[in-house]
Amino acid sequence: MASVAKALLIVAFVFTNALLAETYSAKVKQLYLPEQPKAVGRLLPTAEVKMLGDSGDKVEIEISGWIEDGVPSAVYFAPNRRILVAGINKSTQYKFDDGKSVEDGGKKWIQIKAKFLTEKDGFSDDVDSMYKSAEEMFNTNCSICHKLHDKKEFNANQWPSMINSMLSRTAISKEESYLLIQYLQKNAKDMPYKK
Ligand code: HEC
Repeated sequence: MASVAKALLIVAFVFTNALLAETYSAKVKQLYLPEQPKAVGRLLPTAEVKMLGDSGDKVEIEISGWIEDGVPSAVYFAPNRRILVAGINKSTQYKFDDGKSVEDGGKKWIQIKAKFLTEKDGFSDDVDSMYKSAEEMFNTNCSICHKLHDKKEFNANQWPSMINSMLSRTAISKEESYLLIQYLQKNAKDMPYKK
């Protein structure tokens, strides 16, 4: 009997974990809050999220990241590294749980978790293949006019404007550029984050 109970517990455990699975945003996705028909923000590709379950025609997700103290509209991947996990409209008040905080770059950064709704599509468990395709995008598009720049040549906060100034010279679409920016920022000179 005990072994049956044990087996059931294991099944329940595996099942619960599957339901609350960690997955990744595979594109720029709209974020919503309950009772608000209009999107309140955007989730960026490669952002890790926890699937909490269906909510009508959408899914509820939990996002996590870092905000600058008093500026909840931008959720970042690491303190003082402006690698966007999500951007929330400045006029939107949303609830978040705050965790630990650190000082970096003369500012206070707070780790948060927050729940949003989003469309069901556009998630992938395979973040590595997202980074792989970003790497290919970088290698093929960014070595045409000059030699490929080293990912470690710039800080995470420097890459976005660099990419944006080069974008019109390439065949990379605005949509695709969000993934390229994530890839270069996460492999930048001051990454991975150490403090
Ligand atoms: C059509 C040609 C062309 C393509 C394609 C191109 N670049 Fe450039 N890039 C240039 C030129 C020309 C410069 C010299 C500075 C300038 O004109 O802005 C430059 C400069 C740079 C610099 C140095 C800027 C600085 O201030 O030190 C970086 C970094 C860079 N490119 C990255 C990229 C990346 C990343 C891509 C792919 C998304 C890319 N480039 C694609 C033409 C190109």
